[in-house]
Amino acid sequence: MQLFDMRKKYDRFSLSLQELDKNPIKQFEVWFEEALACDEIPEANIMQVATVSNTGVPSIRTLLLKSYDENGFVFYTNYESEKAKHIEENMNVTLLFFWYGLQRQVEITGVAHKVSQEESSEYFKSRPRGSQLGAWVSKQSSIIKDRSVLENKLKELESKFEGESLPLPFFWGGYRVVPSKIEFWQGRDDRLHDRFEYTKNKNNNFDIHRLAP
Ligand SMILES: Cc1cc2nc3c(=O)[nH]c(=O)nc-3n(C[C@H](O)[C@H](O)[C@H](O)COP(=O)(O)O)c2cc1C
Repeated sequence: MQLFDMRKKYDRFSLSLQELDKNPIKQFEVWFEEALACDEIPEANIMQVATVSNTGVPSIRTLLLKSYDENGFVFYTNYESEKAKHIEENMNVTLLFFWYGLQRQVEITGVAHKVSQEESSEYFKSRPRGSQLGAWVSKQSSIIKDRSVLENKLKELESKFEGESLPLPFFWGGYRVVPSKIEFWQGRDDRLHDRFEYTKNKNNNFDIHRLAP
């Protein structure tokens, strides 16, 4: 098939100002719950996280959303990774969820702050042991010679921590993205999609505007 001929109809749902919650977090919750319940969406908490380096070069990668509430959206990662270096230099980030089964996307822009060590520790403890070891093993985003670097480190750590619970790595934890802008996008027919943007105003409330698709 020619790429020119590849296109899908987006006509399953619509979105109107009347049905939007005034609170974007509550609106996110409505859509997130629907994404969780949708069989065509295997992992609703998959999102893309964009950061920007101090020289203005953007980069983007897939992460898992691990919690959200009125305070923001939380993901966990290595604090020495490329994304963490970017955030240290420039705390502006964008999160993007694309829920194909519902023909929806949500774009969240805000600033990222490290979560407390207690919060990271609580999440770290909830992870399976293999994932805990994985976090300890990987110097995320650094260049390694080959896979044996990871396998040898894993063996070393397995014996070091045998029979013990693993502590939170000092180089690993969460970021909370505090949103200043959240856009809800619903695919519609003829590419005339519904888009609503919430932007934080001076009073820390959100204004809602419809955007052209
Ligand atoms: C489905 C999926 C989920 C992922 N979840 C995470 C995650 O929650 N945390 C994380 O650090 N990396 C996760 N990754 C790996 C990242 O995409 C990325 O490769 C890694 O964080 C290094 O990114 P960086 O070098 O840009 O910092 C995930 C990848 C995929 C495909």
